[in-house]
Amino acid sequence: MNIDRRSFIKFGKNISLMSLLAINFGCSIQPLIKNKNKKVALIYATRYGATKDTAQWIAQGLQRDIDLLNIEDISFSEVIEKYDLFIIGSGVWIDGVGNKLIEFLDTNKDALKNKIIASFILCGTTAKDTKGEERIEKYFDKFHASIDPKPPLNKYFGGRMIIDELNKKDKTILEHFYKRILKRKFVSWDRTEPKKAKLFGSDTKKYI
Ligand SMILES: Cc1cc2nc3c(=O)[nH]c(=O)nc-3n(C[C@H](O)[C@H](O)[C@H](O)COP(=O)(O)O)c2cc1C
Repeated sequence: MNIDRRSFIKFGKNISLMSLLAINFGCSIQPLIKNKNKKVALIYATRYGATKDTAQWIAQGLQRDIDLLNIEDISFSEVIEKYDLFIIGSGVWIDGVGNKLIEFLDTNKDALKNKIIASFILCGTTAKDTKGEERIEKYFDKFHASIDPKPPLNKYFGGRMIIDELNKKDKTILEHFYKRILKRKFVSWDRTEPKKAKLFGSDTKKYI
C-alpha cells in the first residue's frame, strides 16, 4: 500500500481517537471499521436515462464510495460475490419495473437476504391522490415480491419522458395510452428530483 508518513500518523491518530470513544461508550470499535469496509452497489434499470441520473444523485447524497451498475451490464454471480449491500432502483414501464432486475432478485433470493438496504422507482404516476398512492404501492409490491425481508428504505421519484427520445414501439404505445386512456395531450415532461434523491442517499447512510 502506498501511504506517506504523515497520512500514516493521521490514520493512527483517528483510530486511537475512535478506540477511546468506543471504550468510553462501552462498545467495540470493530463494527465501525467493518461497516466502513462494506462494499455497496446501486443496481439500476433504465430505458431512457432518468433512473441513471437519479442513481447518481443518490450516490452524491450518500457521500461514500459505491458502484453504480446498470443491470444490463452485470454478471449476476460476480455482483453477488463482490458486494455486501445493495440499493436497487428502476423506472416503471407498462405497470412494472425492469424484467432483468426482477430476474436478478428472483434468482438470487437467498444470497440477497438482508442485503438490500433501499429501493426506489421512477414513474409518471404521482401520489397526489389515493389512486396514485395505490398504484405506486402496487409497483413496489411487484418490485419487492422476491425480497425478504423488505428493504427498510423505499421511495418513489418523478421520472422523465421526452417524446423525441422514445423508440418507435414505446412512442406508439404511449400515444395510444394518452389519447384513449388518459385523454390528455401527449407532451414531453421532466419531473426528476435531484434534491429529493440526494436526501434519500443521505438517509441511506444509516443502513450501511
Ligand atoms: C413505454 C413507457 C411506459 C411507461 N409506463 C408507465 C406506467 O405504467 N406507469 C407509470 O407511472 N409511468 C410509466 N412510464 C413513465 C416512466 O416510468 C418514466 O418515464 C421513467 O422516467 C422511466 O425511467 P427511465 O428514464 O430511467 O427509462 C412509462 C414510460 C415509458 C417510456
